[in-house]
Amino acid sequence: MAELRDVEVSVWKYVFGFVEMAVVKCAVELEIFDVIENHGIPMTINELSAAFACSSLFLHRIVRFLVHQKLLKEKYNSDGIKSYDLTPLSHFFTRHGEHSMVDLLLSQSSPIMLAPWHYLSGRVRNGPPAFEAAHGENVWKYASKHPEHSELFSGAMACDARLSVPAIVDGCAGLFDGINTIVDVGGANGTALGMLVKAFPWIKGINFDLPHVLSVAPEINGVEHVCGDMFEAVPKAEAAFLKWILHDWGDDECVQILSKCREAVLDADKGMVIIVEAVINEDEDSKFKHVGLMIDMIMMAQTNNGKERTEEEWGSILTKAGFSRFTVKPIHAVQSVIIAYP
Ligand SMILES: C[S@@+](CC[C@H](N)C(=O)[O-])C[C@H]1O[C@@H](n2cnc3c(N)ncnc32)[C@H](O)[C@@H]1O
Repeated sequence: MAELRDVEVSVWKYVFGFVEMAVVKCAVELEIFDVIENHGIPMTINELSAAFACSSLFLHRIVRFLVHQKLLKEKYNSDGIKSYDLTPLSHFFTRHGEHSMVDLLLSQSSPIMLAPWHYLSGRVRNGPPAFEAAHGENVWKYASKHPEHSELFSGAMACDARLSVPAIVDGCAGLFDGINTIVDVGGANGTALGMLVKAFPWIKGINFDLPHVLSVAPEINGVEHVCGDMFEAVPKAEAAFLKWILHDWGDDECVQILSKCREAVLDADKGMVIIVEAVINEDEDSKFKHVGLMIDMIMMAQTNNGKERTEEEWGSILTKAGFSRFTVKPIHAVQSVIIAYP
């Protein structure tokens, strides 16, 4: 009976799980976290209401939920007046924070990215890819025709770059020594490469992506933007870097992309392909396993044949693409660093 009661509590998580995402989106759109950060000290509900020029009728319930979710914390002054302050978690949802996840949240919670989930069961039953069922074309074609969505998507990728690139820099000491040129294949707006080049200033970076993505990418010191299609050719460099590219594609497409990357680094003395992707371990639990499995579901909903892969699956596509060996380095991120040698 006690066990059944426990299950009864957790069942609500599945029925109403979307509420957490929806309320954080609401808080981000209102800029609750930014307003408190800019205020410099904790804010009372009256101060928050004044800042948003609204009554506290709805706002105090949003704030109460955020406190419960540890996205805000209550503080009391000596007169017993309650105010609200940021928590370590809320810093991820300020717009300009060092680790801002705002664009990733807004992208994933947008009607465009949520629509394919309604077609996931159809996909499992051998139906069309869920994104195509929802929007009539694949995620990349759709992005090329919808600039606002495309720019938000690049911003969303930059959110991950701000988390994973410091983990790569910390966890892969020495990997970038002696590398003078890197091509970031599918580098979006260049945030990841810009951070790498800043950490390793001897590297010249080539940020390679589709024309509609690079037409709005900012200028970045040490980075040259080059348009192209990775299925046709990849600019030559000493190392190719692919972060969150291969999980968007099926095995055959990965072999094509990897073969182009292998050709791009083949002339270099110590050429290598650096792949930043999750490595799913089906047998053991780890800190980021749940996130990796969630992203696997996202790949199923939002790409045609993309998926997260086990080490064995990585080995299989790397061998087919002609690589002689590879190593896997776990880092403090949902992804590991897979280094493949031609
Ligand atoms: C999931 S995003 C990853 C972005 C970036 N590597 C990161 O992790 O921050 C995939 C990227 O691949 C790019 N892409 C898709 N098809 C491509 C192609 N055929 N050639 C070059 N880039 C492509 C997309 O425009 C997008 O920027």
